Formats: sequence, C-alpha cells, structure tokens
Amino acid sequence: MSEPLDCPVTDIDPFSDDFLENPFPRLAELRGSGDAFYFREYGVWGVARHDLVDAVLRDHETFSNAAGVGYSNLLKETPWRAPSIILEADPPLHSTTRGVFTRILSPRALRDLRDRFAAEAEALVDSLVQRETFDVVADLAQAYVLKVFPDSLGLPAENRENLLTYGGVTFDSLGPRNARFDEAMDRAARIRPWVEATCARGALTPGGFGAQIYEAADTGTVSDEQAGMLVRSFLTAGVDTTVSALGFAIRRFIEHPDQWAMLRADPTLVRSAFDEVVRIDSPVIGFFRTTTTEARIGSVTVPADAKVMVFFAGANRDPARWDDPDRFDITRRTAGHTGFGAGIHGCAGQMVARAEAEALLTALVHRVGSWEPAGPSTPALNNTLRALASLPVRVHTD
Ligand code: HEM
Repeated sequence: MSEPLDCPVTDIDPFSDDFLENPFPRLAELRGSGDAFYFREYGVWGVARHDLVDAVLRDHETFSNAAGVGYSNLLKETPWRAPSIILEADPPLHSTTRGVFTRILSPRALRDLRDRFAAEAEALVDSLVQRETFDVVADLAQAYVLKVFPDSLGLPAENRENLLTYGGVTFDSLGPRNARFDEAMDRAARIRPWVEATCARGALTPGGFGAQIYEAADTGTVSDEQAGMLVRSFLTAGVDTTVSALGFAIRRFIEHPDQWAMLRADPTLVRSAFDEVVRIDSPVIGFFRTTTTEARIGSVTVPADAKVMVFFAGANRDPARWDDPDRFDITRRTAGHTGFGAGIHGCAGQMVARAEAEALLTALVHRVGSWEPAGPSTPALNNTLRALASLPVRVHTD
C-alpha cells in the first residue's frame, strides 16, 4: 500500500517494551501530531484524540469489528482461535450476542452479586491486614477476582489461575507477530483443552452466568456452540482487565496518600475513584477497527479495508478533553472516558467490574489506614493490556 500523504507518518512502535510499559508520553506526541497518523512499520493508522476516538468508536458501520480488534485482519488470515462472536462481530450477529449478555447482567443480577462480592472482599482484606505485608497483584487483585468472578460464572474451584494465562494469551494475540505473540501461542496450545472443557454446558454450576448463557441456547436465541463461545468471552474479557485496574488503583493510592485519606473520609467516592483509575491508567491501551469504505478521521482520509488502532489510553489523557489529565483526582467527573470503550462495543461487563471494585475498595477503606511500598512494582508487558506483575506493600490500620 502506498503511504498516505495527508497525515503524519510515525516510526513510534506501539508494541515496543518501552511503549507498552508507559504509553502516555508517546501517545501525547501522537495526539499532538495530527487527527490520525500512520505507523510506517506496521502499515496501519492510529487515532488518539478524545473527540476522534469517540467518533470512530460510535461509527461501527464505517469502522468495523468483524475483521478483529487486533492487528491481523481475521477475514484474510486464519486466526489462532475462532473470533469472538461479540467483540469481533458487527450487527446483526453482535446485536443478538450482546442482547444475551445484557439480559444476564441485569440490574437485579448485579444487586445479588454485590452482597457476595462484599462478603468475599471483607474476608480477604481481613486476612491480608493481619499479614500486614503482601503483594497487591497476587494476594489481593488476583486472589479476589479469581474468587468472585468465576464464582459468578459458575466455574469449578480448581485451576482458576488458567484464566490469567488465557486472558494474557488473548490480549497478546491482538498484537503483531512479535516475541510476545509467539510466546502467547505456546501458552495457548497448553491451556486450550482446559478452556474448551470449562466453557462446556456440563462444566457450569446451575444459576451462574455460564448456565444462563446456555439457557439462551435452549430458547433458540443462540446455538449451543455460540453459547460456549459467549462463556469464553466472559472468561477472556473479565479477569485480567479487572485485576489490572485493581492493581493500578492501589498503586495510585500508594502514590497519593491524600486521595486515600479523602476516600476514607467519604467512602461514597469509591465509584468515581475506580472510574478515575480506569481513565488515567487505561488497562486496555487500544483496539483496532477496520474501515469498510474510504473513511475520514478528522482531516485525514483513510482508505477502505485499512486497520486503524484506536487508543483508549490516548483519549483518556487528552488535555483538550480533561483538565490536567495526568493528575489523579478521585472527585473528577469521569463520564465520557474511553477506558471501557464507547459505542455499541462499549464494555458489556463494566457494571460487574465496578461492582467488584467498589466492594473491594470499600472493604479496604474500612480497614487500611495507610499504604507503604514494600518494594518496587514491576510491570507485566502485554501487546494490548497494561498491568502490573507485582506490587509489594505493607498496610497500616491507622
Ligand atoms: C469490551 C475494558 C471488565 C466483558 C470492552 C472494551 C474495553 C473493555 C475497552 C471495548 C471495546 C471496544 O469498543 O472495542 C474493560 C476494563 C475492564 C473490563 C478496563 C475492567 C476494569 C469486563 C468484565 C467483563 C467484560 C468484568 C465481563 C463481565 C466485556 C465484553 C466486551 C467488552 C463481553 C465486548 C463487548 C462488545 O463487543 O459488545 N471491555 N473491561 N469486561 N468487555 Fe470489558
């Protein structure tokens, strides 16, 4: 493809270690360079300004998901697994599958979950406060999410750590064929049989979200095979993302004791605090769309059948949209952030993620007076998902 002439061409590598560890300085550069830009090395376009990211996400007819939300065009290349029938689908299929999710994640279902989340959060935080020193990622975020989320789905208690492997594999596989992608494929081969067995009808406890998805198959809304794939979507989308956001939340509070004190003084701020974390730390750096026709992104023309990388993380730090965007402020009005996406594919599980986070932060607020780092935090590099590998802390009750 000949290079476009009406937008900046960049040599920034959005899949380098450097970028993945801290994408924000480069995203600021890209945002400043133009309405959209072209990654020379990858032959794809990118967009990082808030108004344009939002516009692209809301125009699902021009910017399609059916060719995949990763770097590869799934309509032209054989994917490593069957594409998601919700995230990597356009209407009308998307409308059907999304409808199944929406019905299951009703406000009533969420009310029931909240009590269970709170009880688990309190028990876990009690035991960690007694220990005083622990790792926020392994002992708090992963332990909590791997308890409450698979419980809600109705998964068996064994081997739940495979969910972390599977999430990591899936998010890495959305990048180009780099070393991270290849390693992910090795891990995928090892856990694929477990994932398939876990999504099967017989493996799921009655009453959970998984069994409810199969009930949609019983009424003919989706096929049995599609039900299994929707269970898989729950597994992939709901674990690593939430673990990542919770890890970043605690790192923010370690770095900003004034904000922790403010949250302790007014625990009703947990909801806005969590959304501020999702805005400022943007666990999902960006997903791709594919143009169905020649398209405009602001002043830039993008040809048909082109991949466009849509940077949620770029939009979330755009100074044209946010006052002092790099400042962590739990009282900020965060409506309109793109940490959960926007438009028809906007995160289908965001209310579940918020309910989990609110229960955990509330339990912490009532038990932890202050946080002290007990060692450096280390990043977990992934082609798409920002996360921490570890964050050692000591907690004080006063
Ligand atoms: C979609 C982020 C938790 C299920 C998405 C998208 C983002 C996102 C950015 C975007 C899509 C796009 O427009 O391309 C997050 C973050 C989470 C989180 C940051 C945690 C803090 C969850 C949970 C679930 C879930 C807990 C399951 C209960 C989904 C599904 C989609 C999705 C099924 C696809 C929706 C569609 O295509 O219609 N998420 N997510 N997510 N998320 Fe989440």
